[in-house]
Amino acid sequence: MDYNYYASLARQAAAEGIVLLKNDGNLLPLKNGTGVACFGRSQFNYYKSGTGSGGLVNAPYVVSVLDALKNSTEIHLDSGILKIYEAWIEENPYDNGDGWVQPPCQKEMPLSDDAVLSASKRCDVALISIGRIAGEEKDTPPGPGGFELTAEEDSMIQTVCSHFKNTVVLLNVGSIIDMKWVAKYNPSAVLYIWQGGQEGGNAAADVLTGRISPSGRMPDTIALNIDDYPSTKNFGNSIENIYAEDIYVGYRYFETFAKDKVIYPFGFGLSYSNFEYETKCFSVTDSGIEVEVCVKNTGNHASKEVVQLYVKQPQGVLGKSERVLCGFAKTSTLKCGESENVRISCSKRSLASFDDTGKSGYPYCWIMEAGDYCFYTGNGVRCSHEIGRFTLDETKVVEKLKSAQASVKPFERLVSRNDIPEYETVLVRDYNLWQRICSNRPCKMKKHNDGKVYFNDVRNGNAKLEDFVAQLPAEQLCVIVRGEGMNSPKVTAGTGGAFGGLSPYLQELGVPIACCTDGPSGLRMDSGAKAFSLPNGTCLAASFNRELSTSLFECLALEMRRNRIDVLLGPGLNIHRNPLNGRNFEYFSEDPFLTGMMAAAQLEGLHRHGVKGTIKHFEANNQEYERHFVNGVISQRAQREIYLKSFEIVCRESGAKCIMSTYGPVNGLWTSSSYDLLTAILRDEWGFSGLVMSDWWAHGNEEGEEPSRQEIAAMIRSQNDLYMVNLDAEANSNNDNLMSALGTVKLTLAELQRSAANILRVILELPTTEMCYGCENPMYTQLREDEGFTEIVSRVIVD
Ligand code: BGC
Repeated sequence: MDYNYYASLARQAAAEGIVLLKNDGNLLPLKNGTGVACFGRSQFNYYKSGTGSGGLVNAPYVVSVLDALKNSTEIHLDSGILKIYEAWIEENPYDNGDGWVQPPCQKEMPLSDDAVLSASKRCDVALISIGRIAGEEKDTPPGPGGFELTAEEDSMIQTVCSHFKNTVVLLNVGSIIDMKWVAKYNPSAVLYIWQGGQEGGNAAADVLTGRISPSGRMPDTIALNIDDYPSTKNFGNSIENIYAEDIYVGYRYFETFAKDKVIYPFGFGLSYSNFEYETKCFSVTDSGIEVEVCVKNTGNHASKEVVQLYVKQPQGVLGKSERVLCGFAKTSTLKCGESENVRISCSKRSLASFDDTGKSGYPYCWIMEAGDYCFYTGNGVRCSHEIGRFTLDETKVVEKLKSAQASVKPFERLVSRNDIPEYETVLVRDYNLWQRICSNRPCKMKKHNDGKVYFNDVRNGNAKLEDFVAQLPAEQLCVIVRGEGMNSPKVTAGTGGAFGGLSPYLQELGVPIACCTDGPSGLRMDSGAKAFSLPNGTCLAASFNRELSTSLFECLALEMRRNRIDVLLGPGLNIHRNPLNGRNFEYFSEDPFLTGMMAAAQLEGLHRHGVKGTIKHFEANNQEYERHFVNGVISQRAQREIYLKSFEIVCRESGAKCIMSTYGPVNGLWTSSSYDLLTAILRDEWGFSGLVMSDWWAHGNEEGEEPSRQEIAAMIRSQNDLYMVNLDAEANSNNDNLMSALGTVKLTLAELQRSAANILRVILELPTTEMCYGCENPMYTQLREDEGFTEIVSRVIVD
């Protein structure tokens, strides 16, 4: 466990996520010896992450941009202006809210004209910091101080830009914000530095001083106004959130219908250098497309470039987005004049669309419609130029599926008819899957076996998991499907949850206890234990660097092993449907492909050291307001192509084993009790063989009934295997309905056993099992010993 290496990877990842949007006259990188005056109170409260469970990492240190610049010998900071801020902040301390939820921004210091004018005489460059924070249970407010600047921030930028010729604005935010002020005040340079974790300030200084050339690209589209995002109309409704924009999320909408509303397109970002592309190869095989591009650094700064591959599909009868990202690759650092060939492959499956109407003649199928498929590369969705195409003579069915997760009420959704926006009605479901399943359900309870099978027998391959599970009394199966937390004393202190052998009975049979905790931006341990704070999801997405994310998450995996944590509650894969979603910082992008590929890279890193990640929140956790109850009304197509897509990619690409459902409902059914979602789609279609857990204290429901935290039977029946969390699993402290439902039409023993088996199958693969049976790789045992982490936790079982 080399913390210096960990820190250097995090610093590099945070730097590679920084997006340079504007750099007039090549002001950046700052020349050696430049005098810099720093403005904005947020330079004194660098946001390492957002708030809520995804941000509560007790970092050993956080380097702010200011700290890092003070240590940067290349420039010198003006102390005069800093002193004014310091004195004002004494009088106006940081407002922490209640800690869990914080104000979206801090009060800004009013700036006097004189102070700025005199600073402009001492310094060549002004650096302005703007900060925003949002998170769990708190979306970003659309107005001033939230998505928009406050009057004080606006006037600060105006004053500074009027006195300084050279101005740089840094945006320390978890998600995009309003950018109209750029055209109004014309600062020389603008950078999204996101929330970069504990090394974020160093990363920003690396880019400002030119130690690293920026290579981040926008993971979201920046439009003129918040109302230009088609989802804004329905976002924030407390009862129902209609996904009327359907598949036209982010650039899919703007590139198809509203190009002129965009200020900075998806995938855009400047570098300190320039690049030339040469297409070396474009080949079409039965399975997909292979592209090879030679990228040459033609500028005068060593830099990396992100090659993005987009497709334009034929409009067909379904209507398509003007462009869809279908591949990307990042070069290594290219010296001036140096070239590198990058290869991108893209499967034909990823070029297909989902027909949820039957218009094409193929209802509920992934199809490739007849026509031209044109491919583009370039720096961003806008600047793409065509590199090749192929034509499909006939519409081809790629995969035939069934209707699932259908809407239960008709609603109007956006479609494209040859690039003209139209609305069509999404019809209600054509059959009731749930009832079909119910009518087939046997209702008898089976007797359990008498002879004992031990967990170790299963682990050794001497017994079947099914036989182990079959012998368990129903009460003990219930213990397996109930997790405990938060802060369970049975696992590492301060963590999110424990599951597995939570009763003496199960422990006697040798079932270990597993430990999980948040995620995604580092380990949350409420005990006060320190943990590394990583750059946030949006920042990592903007880096477009999969390998770097894998390496970073390998370090996180070691940190998990050090702390006896088996499962991370992350990464978060929800789509940035709207810039106001409070949890956007935890998630990656408006694009499902980028989201899926980056998350898969993170899981790969975790898997290298035997721990698991939990991809969450499955599906469509796209607003925090009323998150337990607001009903997402979403077409099957939008789910398949946008909201489920990132999860599908991760399940197929990286063998994810843990998934967390959401708090709320989609199409009337709480996701934690949706058979369509958790069985029909996830397991039957995608072949997922792991466990699904609920979000903490989530509700479930029977179709058409009110939700409740006791409705665990419906969850188990759908294969939401693990209910998180109870105070005491065996005592059924949550007073759930499992035992009363068992043997009725609501829940069979077989269903309960199936979920227990899903959980135990994952536990067999977790470090806790290796630890309990003394077969942990000594490297990890050593790691804990080296760090003095020898705490004995009760989940260690003596066989
Ligand atoms: C969040 C989850 C988190 C869980 C455990 C919930 O409030 O929605 O994302 O993993 O708490 O902390």
